Amino acid sequence: MNKIQIAPSLLSANFAALAEDIRMVEEAGADLLHIDVMDGHFVPNITIGPPVVKAIKRVAKKPLDVHLMISDPDQYIPEFVKAGASILTVHAEACVHLDRTLNFIRSHNVGVGVSINPATPLSAVEHALDLADMLLIMSVNPGFGGQKYIPYVTEKIRHAREIINRRNLRCVIEVDGGIDIPTMPDVINAGATVLVAGSAIFGDADPGRKLKEMLATAARLSYHSKVV
Ligand code: DX5
Ligand code: ZN
Repeated sequence: MNKIQIAPSLLSANFAALAEDIRMVEEAGADLLHIDVMDGHFVPNITIGPPVVKAIKRVAKKPLDVHLMISDPDQYIPEFVKAGASILTVHAEACVHLDRTLNFIRSHNVGVGVSINPATPLSAVEHALDLADMLLIMSVNPGFGGQKYIPYVTEKIRHAREIINRRNLRCVIEVDGGIDIPTMPDVINAGATVLVAGSAIFGDADPGRKLKEMLATAARLSYHSKVV
């Protein structure tokens, strides 16, 4: 049985005290640190770039799961690798030559991730899944933390799990957006194994306690899940 991993999204952390927030979630059992990079073009928000990723790398012990919500990601991949990304995820919608981009990430010896927006069909990435270590299924429209989980995405997670199991691929399924204790049963039963959570964790008065509660919930749910 695979362990369900939780990747706290630093987008909802205190940007003036990132090191402290990172330490808190790492001590509580975070498996990965999710970093949301937004360019004000692919998504209607601007967040952080390679210098901040580099600063995070200096204090982080866990792998950096870097989610690129940017147009023309190829142009910036080498810089994010240099900054310390462990996994680089690009959006299929932002890549004209997805196969080329995924191979380009692979050539830098970091984890390869591919993401799709809620309304993008799985068929947009189906043929490229052999090239990916991670499929990131967005369960909100990317751009902001604190949005509501879009229920129709659950069916897409289930379908992705079916394809990955049938083809015996190593690609893990990560889900991002609106994840909190009430939405965890659906995504875990559908077959996701990496859950991103931002506002659920950092919006809580005690982020460390909340993350532990989510990890315990995940362990319980995956024990009962027949899918993973
Ligand atoms: C949204 C980002 C998410 C975001 C999730 O575009 O990709 O990673 O931080 O935030 P919550 O967990 O609050 O929905
Ligand atoms: Zn994200």
